[in-house]
Amino acid sequence: MYFDTHAHYDDKAFDADRETLLLACWDAGVELIIDPGCEAGSSRAAIELAEKLDFVYAAVGIHPEELASCDEDSLLEIRNLAEHPKCVAIGEIGLDYYWDDTHKAEQKQLFRWQIELALETGKPVIVHDREAHGDCLEIVKDYPGLQGVFHCYSGSAEMAKELLKRGWYLGFDGPVTYKNARKTIEVLEICPLDRMLIETDSPYLSPVPMRGKRNDSRNLCYVVEKIAEVKGISTEEVEKITMENGKRLFRIE
Ligand code: NI
Repeated sequence: MYFDTHAHYDDKAFDADRETLLLACWDAGVELIIDPGCEAGSSRAAIELAEKLDFVYAAVGIHPEELASCDEDSLLEIRNLAEHPKCVAIGEIGLDYYWDDTHKAEQKQLFRWQIELALETGKPVIVHDREAHGDCLEIVKDYPGLQGVFHCYSGSAEMAKELLKRGWYLGFDGPVTYKNARKTIEVLEICPLDRMLIETDSPYLSPVPMRGKRNDSRNLCYVVEKIAEVKGISTEEVEKITMENGKRLFRIE
């Protein structure tokens, strides 16, 4: 049984077959899914999907790539959606200097605003950190009570230790199956079993052997196989532990 803690089923890539596909995922053993929003509209769509399907939960937030779409109204909408009973986290939020390194100050301000919303509403955060490791770490260190996951973790093993010490979870996705995954495998080796989550980031980041195709939660089996191999445990154990971890962090019964 799988818990995909990060899949964008509100994405237009799923417009043609969204609900049929989600039911096929359920049939394949995907028991829980979190759909994180990327701006106000997709956060609303994630909540609507979660209202329709019992096993789908939502996170709401403004992704750093969507900085330009962010205004007073969208922040107000995120604040309102955060109160929804099926909203289990604030995300996907963070810093992305690969996408845009000219608005660092604005990205940081939006990240902090959303972290503070998470603390006010008592929810964990789902962090996107792309080529912004130092600044992400510095910001989360300012909020000792904050809980959450570094989604598709791509930092060093050194930084992972800092995060783990502070109670953070690390998300592992399709890239663990790629040939050049050495750095991520090192992180996987030092990550305690009770702090790892499995994610697809669907429709993106398809694992080997599905690389290049649209991703969906059924492909978690390839991520699980790789984790089992690195940690020297069975795939069933990886499924069970990551299910428990996800339920604990996102407070799902
Ligand atoms: Ni994502």
